[in-house]
Amino acid sequence: MYTDNFYENLNKSIELNQAYKYYTSYRNNITEVIINTITEKKLKSITIIGAGNLMDIDYRRIYEMNDIKITVTDIDAEAIDRGIKFYELEESKINKVVFNYLGVESNFIETLKIKLDNPIISEEEAIILIKDYFKSIKNRIITTTYNDNIGYKSELVVVCPIYTQLLYQELQHKLKESNNYHYIKDLILQEMIYIIDMFNQRIVKMISKGKYIFVLSDIIEKSITKKSKEHTIIFKKEEIEEEISTYEKTYGVGLGSYGLINIEEYTKVIQDYYYQWNFDSNRSFLVKGLLLMK
Ligand SMILES: C[S@@+](CC[C@H](N)C(=O)[O-])C[C@H]1O[C@@H](n2cnc3c(N)ncnc32)[C@H](O)[C@@H]1O
Repeated sequence: MYTDNFYENLNKSIELNQAYKYYTSYRNNITEVIINTITEKKLKSITIIGAGNLMDIDYRRIYEMNDIKITVTDIDAEAIDRGIKFYELEESKINKVVFNYLGVESNFIETLKIKLDNPIISEEEAIILIKDYFKSIKNRIITTTYNDNIGYKSELVVVCPIYTQLLYQELQHKLKESNNYHYIKDLILQEMIYIIDMFNQRIVKMISKGKYIFVLSDIIEKSITKKSKEHTIIFKKEEIEEEISTYEKTYGVGLGSYGLINIEEYTKVIQDYYYQWNFDSNRSFLVKGLLLMK
C-alpha cells in the first residue's frame, strides 16, 4: 500500500496521550455536534475525511451509538491504526479506507525539487515547472471518486482540518529551500485554489441531496499565553469574526478560510461554530466549523 512519508511523519510526531489531553474541549465540542446531528436527523452512517490519529473526535462515543456505520479515511494507515488502538475499538466494526484524496500514486515533489534546485533555470522556467506539476496533479484528481474507494454513500461526512495541509504544507516544507522558491510561492498558492475546489467537489459528491457535511478548518494559528490557558474558549462570535477580518485584511484570505468559502458554494449552511483547538502547550488554532446540507 502506498503511503506518504510526509504525512506519516507529521502524524507520528504527535504523542497521543498528550494530544488527547490538549484537544479535550475541542474534541468534546465537535463530538457534541456530530452526535446531535446523527440523533436529530436519524442518520445511519458517518465517514471521516482526514481522520489521522483519530484525536479530534471522541470515536468511543460515536462507536457506542446504536446502529451507526463508521468509516475513517486518511492517506496514513498507521495513524488510523494508532487511533483505533488508543480508543480500544474493535477493528472489524470500523471501516478503514486508506487513499490519497488527490488521487496520486506519487506526487513527484522530489523530481520537481531537483529541477527547481538547478541554479541556471530562469524565473519563466521555474513557473512552467510548477504549472506542469499542478496540471499532472489535476489530471489525477479528475479521475478520482471518493465513494469508489469507500464503497458506499454516507449520510454524514466529517472533514477534519485539512485545507491548510493538503499538498500545500508538503510543497512548502520540501521546496522552501529551493533556489527558485521566491519565484513560485504565489503561484503555488493560486494553484491550491483549484486543488481545494476539486477536493470540495468530490466531498460534496460523496453524499445524496438532503444529507450532511460537517467541515472543520483551522483559520488562524495563535500562541498560547497564560491568559488564554485560563480562558480556553473564546465564544463571542462577533469578537472572533472581527479578529478574523482584521487578520485577513493584513495577511489575506488563507487556505483554511478559502476551503470553507468554497464548499459553501455547493451546499447550504445550517450552522456555524468556532473552536479553540489547543494543539500543544504553546500553540492553538482558531477552527471554524460549518454544518452543511447538500
Ligand atoms: C491536520 S490532520 C487532521 C487531524 C486528525 N484528524 C487527527 O485527529 O489526528 C489532517 C490529516 O489529513 C491527512 N491528509 C493530508 N493530505 C492527504 C491526502 N492527500 N490524502 C489523504 N489524507 C491526507 C493527513 O495524513 C492528516 O492525518
